[in-house]
Amino acid sequence: MGLCVGKPANVAHVSSTQLTKDAINQRERKQEPRPAKTSADEGLNRPNNLKAFTLNDLKAATKNFRSENLIGEGGFGRVYKGWIDESTFAPAKPGTGLVVAVKVLKSESYQGHREWLTEVDYMGMLRHKNLVKLIGYCQEYESRLLVYEFMPKGSLENHLFRKGVEPVAWATRMHIAIDVAQGLCFLHSKEPSVIYRDLKASNILLCSEFTARLSDFGLARNGPVGDNTHVSTRVVGTSGYAAPEYVATGHLTTNNDVYSFGVVLLELLSGRRAIADERGVEETLVDWVKPFLNENRGVFRIMDTRLGGRYSKKGAQAVAALALRCLHKDPKYRPTMAEVVASLEEIMSSPKSLPEVSSLGVKPLIDLNNKF
Ligand SMILES: Nc1ncnc2c1ncn2[C@@H]1O[C@H](COP(=O)(O)OP(=O)(O)OP(=O)(O)O)[C@@H](O)[C@H]1O
Ligand SMILES: [Mg+2]
Repeated sequence: MGLCVGKPANVAHVSSTQLTKDAINQRERKQEPRPAKTSADEGLNRPNNLKAFTLNDLKAATKNFRSENLIGEGGFGRVYKGWIDESTFAPAKPGTGLVVAVKVLKSESYQGHREWLTEVDYMGMLRHKNLVKLIGYCQEYESRLLVYEFMPKGSLENHLFRKGVEPVAWATRMHIAIDVAQGLCFLHSKEPSVIYRDLKASNILLCSEFTARLSDFGLARNGPVGDNTHVSTRVVGTSGYAAPEYVATGHLTTNNDVYSFGVVLLELLSGRRAIADERGVEETLVDWVKPFLNENRGVFRIMDTRLGGRYSKKGAQAVAALALRCLHKDPKYRPTMAEVVASLEEIMSSPKSLPEVSSLGVKPLIDLNNKF
């Protein structure tokens, strides 16, 4: 789930995502305790296409949350691999039936509970090939869990940035971009629109064939209705991905997701993180990349060196130009996600988008690569 970055004025100075989230959890825990104890599913009016699991079901499915089944950890808590029967959803023997990812809310935070509720509400309602499928949930006493389809290739973050992982090919990167764009386009096309608010590489999960799906709807919100131009919200999201006008004002529109998508495009092109990691560099990827993209052929100097030059020059230039449009300072000049999907499909269908095997003859800025 996403990082809560507090009030607008605080956002630019967030240096540790985890600390900030914990701080907010602490504060909200004091002010607003989690709702009183309930037995499994009591008092919930959740979508009936979701399975209400008991805690015992999920203990059995994950072998009592055994550490060897741990597949990841985020701000919300730990994620475990588990197995359930395909038709009854009862716990199954490891290695049989349907593989699931079980997310366990880590503390008694009200914020976490609220994200859990939002996730159940949206994911119970929304079904699309580019959204991770929520199978069910568990609310039992203090425990809050979510059960998703298991995405065997894990997150895009792991594939782009983790050391020792095989580089993602150019064509695969472009397919991932289209999948993500289609997922967002679907959300924005709802009435009222659904604003995702937490697009980032760790929330883009991959199937065995590298089909990309969006996960984590804990921060999603309905967009404006009627004559309203925006929804006013507390600023949440992740530094480096959140649109500057949203960070400054808390005004939420679908354009904010378009900006975050532009950041993900830059990550796909450059293989560098949106925000500097623990080495503490202040500059964001957007700040670093923009001057290069404003110069002719500058894109070749920011391209991921792990591609070994095996990408299309024309394709990379077109994608970089699209990223710049998504990152426009003025949100009204950003394209809609429907326009983004159309542009990406056009770029991909052009024969000039096929990778070129030869070296591009432009020296990438290898020394600067270590910044992200
Ligand atoms: N459905 C899933 N299938 C496979 N792996 C998953 C699934 N859901 C999550 N994971 C793994 O668990 C990791 C943690 O996910 P989680 O959504 O809890 O945190 P995050 O996205 O890394 O951070 P944040 O809390 O800021 O959103 C992911 O990066 C991914 O590797
Ligand atoms: Mg996540």
